[in-house]
Amino acid sequence: MNSLTELRAKQEMVEELVQYLRTPHWGRQKLWRHAIWRSFARVGLTGIHSLPVHRRWIDIHRRKMPLPNLDPHLVGMKIAQISDLHYSPVVWRKYLEQFIDWVNELEPQLVVVTGDLITGGYRYADRVASLLAHLKAPFGVICTFGNHDYSVYGKAFTKEGKRRADHLERSLIHHGLIVLRNSVHYVCPPGAHAPLAVVGLDDEWSGSLDAQKGFNGLHADQPIICLNHNPANCNELMEFPWQWMLSGHTHGRQIGAGPVGRRLYPHRFRHFTHGYYAVNGRHLYVNRGLSYGQRVLEWCRPEVTLFTLDEDKDAA
Ligand SMILES: [Fe+2]
Repeated sequence: MNSLTELRAKQEMVEELVQYLRTPHWGRQKLWRHAIWRSFARVGLTGIHSLPVHRRWIDIHRRKMPLPNLDPHLVGMKIAQISDLHYSPVVWRKYLEQFIDWVNELEPQLVVVTGDLITGGYRYADRVASLLAHLKAPFGVICTFGNHDYSVYGKAFTKEGKRRADHLERSLIHHGLIVLRNSVHYVCPPGAHAPLAVVGLDDEWSGSLDAQKGFNGLHADQPIICLNHNPANCNELMEFPWQWMLSGHTHGRQIGAGPVGRRLYPHRFRHFTHGYYAVNGRHLYVNRGLSYGQRVLEWCRPEVTLFTLDEDKDAA
């Protein structure tokens, strides 16, 4: 009887440990994962991130998003940004599903997906749509496209690429998601007098970006968030009236940020690699994306960004 009780106690301990490791408690995860990484790094094993144990290590980056003339009903609204899922034969559903669950646990009111939803073929369009349909946000899930949504190889302007992106758009809409391709979506909670404008630009590399069309009729005195996959053209889009631009595409550019990468990458693609940038009084945020979880450098973990809307008092 005693041995049975002991066995049960041990089983409970193991279950508790497993639960502990599975619980997406970001601060706690960071502590022990950083400890493992540092221990291995001390003996020269700096690439230890590539082990499967680190697949569940994700950065939740929380940030205030001050916007001018924001309606009081929109203050405090939480917007989650995810990017670069690259659903394909090498980025599996099971890997991506965990992020969907974790985004839901953050309880955002709006989710934005800033491009590169797929890298695989047509079948992945339907699959990513059914995956993203599990995101829960009362004001919807807004998707914009990146270069890989047009081409497996990343940079191509072909009729086939356009057909593929159109098929992806139909699949997403069929699953109840909002797709913005050079168009605007207004977020207006009950009681609000002025909506928040979310402009989604299409992919630049496939020649589909048309900012004139996307920003048509919008003015600088409105709160406007621009979703733009590739941040490299941020300076070129200054003539348009956005206050925040949310991007992805770079995957943290963990190689491009170092001395070797600075030689390899063209100058245009090295300005904005990851994180927050203040650009001529505007705000740019570059999300590191979700896919290819086995990244080598410690700071380059897959990322979910959680923005909380706030009134920009400095702009008033
Ligand atoms: Fe990407």
